[in-house]
Amino acid sequence: MMYLTTEQERMLSGEEGEAVRKGMELIVALGEIYGAERLIPIKSAQVSGVSYKTIGDAGLEFIEDYARIMKKEGRKVRVKTTMNPAGMDLEKWRLMGVDEDFAEKQLRIFNAYVSMGIEPSLTCTPYYFVNVPSFGEHIAWAESSAVSYANSVIGARTNREGGPSALASAITGLTAEYGLHLDENRRADVIIEVDFKPDPYLYAAMGNHLGSLLSKIGKKVPYFRGIKPSEDEMKALGAAMAATGSIALYHVENITPKWEDAVTDKLETIHIDKREIREHIKGMDRDCEPELIAIGCPHASERELKRIAELVKGRRKREDRELWVSVSRAVAERNPEAVRIIEEFGGLVLRDTCMVVAPIEKRFGNTAVNSGKAAYYLPKESFCRQCVRFRPLEELVMMAVAP
Ligand code: F3S
Repeated sequence: MMYLTTEQERMLSGEEGEAVRKGMELIVALGEIYGAERLIPIKSAQVSGVSYKTIGDAGLEFIEDYARIMKKEGRKVRVKTTMNPAGMDLEKWRLMGVDEDFAEKQLRIFNAYVSMGIEPSLTCTPYYFVNVPSFGEHIAWAESSAVSYANSVIGARTNREGGPSALASAITGLTAEYGLHLDENRRADVIIEVDFKPDPYLYAAMGNHLGSLLSKIGKKVPYFRGIKPSEDEMKALGAAMAATGSIALYHVENITPKWEDAVTDKLETIHIDKREIREHIKGMDRDCEPELIAIGCPHASERELKRIAELVKGRRKREDRELWVSVSRAVAERNPEAVRIIEEFGGLVLRDTCMVVAPIEKRFGNTAVNSGKAAYYLPKESFCRQCVRFRPLEELVMMAVAP
C-alpha cells in the first residue's frame, strides 16, 4: 500500500471536495498499479484531450462535468497547467474549413478547461516560453512529444500521462512516484550507434523507424552515439519515437543532460546506417499529389518558422495547394515578421491546432509533411485517412510555390 500524508488522506476522503477526491482516486489507483510508494508534488501539468476530433462528445461531456464540479466548489488547478492543441485555430477556423458544429463544440471544451484555471496555451510545445520546466523538476505532462522533450532535452521528470491523469495531477498538484520520476528507470537499456550524419529530415525518419523497432524488442530508453542533433532535431526525433513506439526518454552522448550517468551496465548495441533509414522512408513517403502541405509537428520553433519565411519570401503560392504552418501563439507573437511573410505568400500560420488533431480529412485526401510523428498518424484509417508524402522541409515549401 502506498503511504499517504494526513493531508493527502483528507483529500482522498473528499474533505476538500468532489473534484479533488476524484483526482486523488485516479492518482492513487495509478500509483498502486505501478507500485509507487508515495505521492510527490509536481511543478506543472500539461493536459491533452483538447481537440473535439480526438475526444468526441463523450470527452466533451466528461470535461464539462468536471468543470461544473470545480466551479461549484470554487476550485482551480493547483499548479501551472497548460493545454494541448485544439482541433482548430480559435480565430481562423473558417479559413481552415472547419464547420460550425465542430467549432461550437471545440469552443465548449476550451472554455471548460479555461474555467478550471488552465492556461489557454493550446500547444504541444509549451516548453517554448509558456511552461518551461527546469532540470530535475517533477511534472505531470500528457502529449507524448512534449513528454519526450521535457525528459530528454530538458531533464525534467514526467511519465507519459494520459489526459485524465494529467488533469488529476493539475487539480491535486500531485503525482505518484514511479516510472521516470525515479533514477533507476531513467538509465538507458540499449545503445543506438548511428553510422551517418543525419539532417533534420533523416532525424524525423530515424525516430519513426526506431520507435517501432525498439518497442518490438521491448527497449524503452535508448542512448544515442555518433550524432550531434540540434534542439529542433531532438524535437523531431523524440516526437517520432514517442509516436511509433512509446519512448518517453532518450539520451544523446555529450548532448542531453546527465548523459554520463545514463549507461551503467553493458548494453546491447544497435547500428543504424543511412541505407536502412532511406529504405524505411520508402514506406512513409507515398506517391500522391499533395493538396495540403503541413509543417509544424510538433509546433514549429522560432528557427523553423523563420526558415519557412526565408524560403517563401517574395514567392507566390500555387492556387491548388494549401500551406499550413502550425505554431504556438507564443512563437507566432514573438515573430510577427515571419508570420507576415508566410501569410503574404498565401500560407496559413495556424495557432492552437495542427494537421493531425484538426478535421483535415473532411477537406483533404493527400497531405505532405516533414514530421515523423505526423507521417505516422495521418494515414490512419480511423483518424486522418490521408495519403502522405514525407519529404524534407525545403522540398515541402517548394511544393507550395507557384511555377
Ligand atoms: Fe503537436 Fe499535433 Fe504533432 S499536437 S506533436 S503538432 S500531432
